[in-house]
Amino acid sequence: MSDELVIQSHTGPYRVEFHQGLPQEPFAVLGDRPHVLIDANVARLYATQLRSVVEHPNTIIIEATEANKSLQRTIPVFERLIANSIRRDHTLVAIGGGIIQDITCFIASTLLRGLPWRFVPTTLLAQADSCIGSKSSINLGDTKNVLGTFNPPRQIYVHSAFLDTLAAKDIHSGVGEILKVHAIDGAGAFDQLARDFGQLFTDRSVLLKYIRAALSIKQRYIEQDEFDRGIRNIFNYGHSFGHAIESATDYGVPHGIAVTMGMDMANFIAVRRGLLPQRHFERMHPVLKRNYAQFAAVAIPEAPLQAALSKDKKNTSAGLRLIFPKGESAIIEPVTVVADEAFRSQCSQFLQVLPQ
Ligand SMILES: NC(=O)c1ccc[n+]([C@@H]2O[C@H](COP(=O)([O-])OP(=O)(O)OC[C@H]3O[C@@H](n4cnc5c(N)ncnc54)[C@H](O)[C@@H]3O)[C@@H](O)[C@H]2O)c1
Repeated sequence: MSDELVIQSHTGPYRVEFHQGLPQEPFAVLGDRPHVLIDANVARLYATQLRSVVEHPNTIIIEATEANKSLQRTIPVFERLIANSIRRDHTLVAIGGGIIQDITCFIASTLLRGLPWRFVPTTLLAQADSCIGSKSSINLGDTKNVLGTFNPPRQIYVHSAFLDTLAAKDIHSGVGEILKVHAIDGAGAFDQLARDFGQLFTDRSVLLKYIRAALSIKQRYIEQDEFDRGIRNIFNYGHSFGHAIESATDYGVPHGIAVTMGMDMANFIAVRRGLLPQRHFERMHPVLKRNYAQFAAVAIPEAPLQAALSKDKKNTSAGLRLIFPKGESAIIEPVTVVADEAFRSQCSQFLQVLPQ
């Protein structure tokens, strides 16, 4: 395997570079006159290795919280960048996970009508999934990911050494998105990953193989449908339920773990609606459950869950637009569902079996 991927986008090709260690000369690669937005935990944990970045006057340190990923909380960041005299020929740089990525991409899309940006993803979720695909998503109040743009970075630097300091829940969160992408690739790909599941946590080379595989699978879809108007919709598998779980638990469940629960919930409901043979639920459930086990007992109140589902940005006037595996081959497809009593009861049944 080469040590880079080249992704085609509406702004031209961009590269994902893969490195084993940490960035050696961060400012050497960060573009013209960088303004860095860095995750506060990363700035603290890597204060020595990233000293030149962390101590630079144009660097802004941000706590990676969903509250900070809101329109309201990004306004002070816009103000700081303007106070730091940012110009169109400068570069914004994100160093962090999906939250810092979303904030940076959104600002890069809108400030001065657009700035180039680069990304150093430091979480598994960002390295294996969110770093490609062009999307930014910002929360408005407590409505998650409802504002956004399509604007890929110019360059992505995946340094796997950042994963050494990641909490176990954040490794599981990234694995959730890797499971989703492999489910989309087909039952064979998912089942192989399920067999290798334990090694993801013990053998870095196996994890790196799956990071590359997940990006390569996603690449095929985003290059066909970068603006998510067709085939790319299926990457929302697990996400309508997952976002609703995040929202109903006040973000008590990390994103990729909520997505893992969301896939299990989609499979469970698909069986009850006659869309999916039970054996596919049973085939996928053990590994999904292993990935969200640490959060299976978190209380998920039903009324906020239903309220969040009804606000999902993919819904149409015909109903909820959900993604389910369907048929003998468990092909992942969009389905429009009316949120009636039967649907609410199916959700409720899943929430009752979830902690068991
Ligand atoms: N734009 C997209 O395409 C896209 C895709 C998927 C998810 N997302 C968004 O991404 C967010 C989730 O991203 P995430 O899972 O990367 O989480 P995150 O950015 O919230 O980071 C998770 C935690 O890990 C910490 N952290 C980051 N790097 C670290 C490191 N190297 N060592 C130790 N701790 C580190 C952070 O401070 C934070 O506490 C959600 O808001 C989700 O909606 C965006």
